[in-house]
Amino acid sequence: MTTSNAAISEKLRIPDEIAQTVFSPKAYGDDDDIHTALGWLRENIPLGLSEVPGYDPIWIVTKNADIRTVSKNAKLFPSSIFNPILNDQAGDEFVRQTNDGKNHSLESLTFMDPPEHTKWRNLTASYFQPGNIAKLSEKIRVMARESVDRLLSFDGECDFAKDFALLYPLRVVMTLIGVPPEDEPTMLRLTQDFYGGADPEEQRAEVIEDPIAAAKQWHATLQDFYRYFDTLTEERRRKPQDDLVSLIANATIDGKPVPYDIANGYYVALAAAGHDTTSSTTGGGFYGLLKFPGEFEKFKADPSGLAANFVEEAIRWACPVKHFLRSTSEEVEVSGVTMPANARLFLSYPSGCRDEEVFDHPHDFIVDRRPNNHVGFGFGPHVCLGLSLARLELKILFEELIPCLKSIELAGPPKRMEANFLSGIKSLPIRFKKA
Ligand code: HEM
Repeated sequence: MTTSNAAISEKLRIPDEIAQTVFSPKAYGDDDDIHTALGWLRENIPLGLSEVPGYDPIWIVTKNADIRTVSKNAKLFPSSIFNPILNDQAGDEFVRQTNDGKNHSLESLTFMDPPEHTKWRNLTASYFQPGNIAKLSEKIRVMARESVDRLLSFDGECDFAKDFALLYPLRVVMTLIGVPPEDEPTMLRLTQDFYGGADPEEQRAEVIEDPIAAAKQWHATLQDFYRYFDTLTEERRRKPQDDLVSLIANATIDGKPVPYDIANGYYVALAAAGHDTTSSTTGGGFYGLLKFPGEFEKFKADPSGLAANFVEEAIRWACPVKHFLRSTSEEVEVSGVTMPANARLFLSYPSGCRDEEVFDHPHDFIVDRRPNNHVGFGFGPHVCLGLSLARLELKILFEELIPCLKSIELAGPPKRMEANFLSGIKSLPIRFKKA
């Protein structure tokens, strides 16, 4: 439990209905609902305390600058003390029960603090360096061309999210991890299940109507991931290849092989974080072009010149990662607000990405927005490990796609995943004409 917040000024208390919206998976199924609540917070209580029944007291951080302040100081704002992913108290209790009393369910970077975090991040840091990732350009471009050809074969009408945005990032990240193409459907199902436990359409039969469906489905999916990766690890130990499973499975740290739970934590983080984020950005960015048709025309006039800017704007506007939590290791002040030790903090990345103090017309999709100081990749020591890969694969994809399209339009209402951690558009019916 967190320490008492009794002495907190009334001015810092967030109304329950606003905090409930920010925590509610359903609210992320509707862009207007969530951004209305986050905009209200930025204007009225940019850093305040929520005391929603059923949840621990949690401070909600909505300003771009405050998210950066908290994220860059892992000593004052650690990730490993409490679960850095939001659950209600019943969900957190389930995590402890199923993980020998620990507050987290897998041994991955997200749940660690330095020096442990630094040690394990360094294991793959050089692989994910921009220079090394750039060497993959040609391989990735071949995958992008194949995906664009597939989209064009739909002859003018398709579901951009299901038929396109979900599949290309899957192929890229699974190829780098070492998952063979025939196992991609399994991985697609698992990555969708992993984050989709609160969405009635994505729930497995055994968690339907369960009040802690998201925590239970996360746990069950993890066991499926582990079973899959155990076999792959054995194969790569016997016969290493040029992929990430081979790198991790055969590495030695402090003279010892990488422990089983850390290796598995890595694989799951790379597979899940590396797929759903990038596919949500692909669908979300394309929706930005549909909603702001002038931006599509602008992009079409200079696809290679604007692709890198488009990618940053897509990440800012779609912002697939909705939060991470941190806690306080001692009493600490941020932007004039004093929080006690052991307070929990909810970093709202979609809010930081639409902060009017940082962005003009923050709700508009502007393909050539510069500068673009979004926090969609987080910030500080935990900043997205795969950001160079994400940037490169998205840039290449849209460099290939945009010149092939003459016109695009919505052919039906888009549908978003109802999830408060990682979510995006899951259905985007479109009509298009080829260039
Ligand atoms: C557009 C795509 C992506 C977005 C928006 C995104 C966003 C994020 C965010 C917000 C964080 C947390 C940062 C923080 O706590 O400060 C993160 C961490 C992470 N991401 Fe990404 N990500 C993307 C793609 C990828 C890819 C392609 C990979 C790898 C294949 C990846 C692997 C990771 C890992 C391993 C972490 C944990 C890093 C740590 O805790 O040290 N991500 N990402």
